[in-house]
Amino acid sequence: MDLKQLSDKFTAIFNVSDYRSFFAPGRINLIGEHTDYNGGHVFPASITKGTYALARKREDNKIRMYSMNFENLGVIEFDINNLDYNKAHDWANYPKGMLRYLKEKGYDIPTGVDVLFYGNIPNGAGLSSSASIELVSGVMYEKLFDLEIGRVELVKIGQLVENKFIGVNSGIMDQFAIGMGKKNAGILLDCDTLKYEYAPLELDEHLILIMNTNKRRELADSKYNERRSECEQALAQLQKALDVQALGNISSEQFEQHKHLIENETLKKRAKHAVYENERTLDALKALKAGDLTEFGRLLNASHTSLRDDYEVTGKELDTLAETAWAQDGVLGARMTGAGFGGCAIALVEKEKVQQIIENIEKIYEETIGYPASFYKVSIGDGAKEL
Ligand code: GLA
Repeated sequence: MDLKQLSDKFTAIFNVSDYRSFFAPGRINLIGEHTDYNGGHVFPASITKGTYALARKREDNKIRMYSMNFENLGVIEFDINNLDYNKAHDWANYPKGMLRYLKEKGYDIPTGVDVLFYGNIPNGAGLSSSASIELVSGVMYEKLFDLEIGRVELVKIGQLVENKFIGVNSGIMDQFAIGMGKKNAGILLDCDTLKYEYAPLELDEHLILIMNTNKRRELADSKYNERRSECEQALAQLQKALDVQALGNISSEQFEQHKHLIENETLKKRAKHAVYENERTLDALKALKAGDLTEFGRLLNASHTSLRDDYEVTGKELDTLAETAWAQDGVLGARMTGAGFGGCAIALVEKEKVQQIIENIEKIYEETIGYPASFYKVSIGDGAKEL
């Protein structure tokens, strides 16, 4: 799909052609998984796949939205003065939620809009298509109505939509990565303070490969909320001895010293992951800055092992991809990325060997799981913007 095709579709649907174009990427997370809502560090990067929006202001109160990914749902229409969640509005609840919270926060959006959306992030793959549509909508309202919104504020509104409008209790990583992304850089973010730094991804002879299990993350939301609450319980027990606000504030030494306070073995494992994964994320930044990709790869593997054994969010499909990748010549490291329970894994691989690596993993995955995986070579692109 190119912009010309989107343009033709916009004209065909809305009978006008005076639109402006916006884009928001999807994201991968290099390392730092299930640490954001624990006040730890994450290390995501925005990718060049994402969501496009072509939009124009209307003169009346109507919002009319059309997605080329859900053509069977046709144009979804609602009034600017009725912005309640509506199940029948399906995917359009994301842009609707953004509009609702922007207005609630006092931003002046006096008229409706016509919008055409198209996304090329594989559906349900854990590459944050939902944060992508939230942020592309946010930037669209910002630019069309000349609003002065700080980018981090827009990111927080995206998270609010996810938490309060859609009902997924997620952290801030996805919206931050997508709102703040930068070409060829990862973002090391402290989710406690929102301090961040860009780290150039100089991978030289290597590239990042996305490996999609093609298993949708169906159970993901309920299991996700369960992990959050397990971490909260573990934290409460550690707080009997430690004056801390989050698991991300605890060092591994402190954890080892006080872990006996957590009575339940499962809770202990969850907290262990959160604490050690946070440290691995900071170590990964150091390794990358030092140009030590071997160490970076080792940390990716350790992250996956911890997510598999202690946090228990991987599953057979993700384990097959990561473990098969580990066994390949030319793979420096591999791990699941995102929430888990399906979705995608990433691998750091030698460019020269990538074709052979894909073929080998493809074969073993299909033999083991019964259906094929998909593979994409990653390009790291900019965050949400007007085109
Ligand atoms: C999902 C959530 C993020 C983060 C990851 C796990 O992508 O939306 O906030 O918690 O899972 O690291």
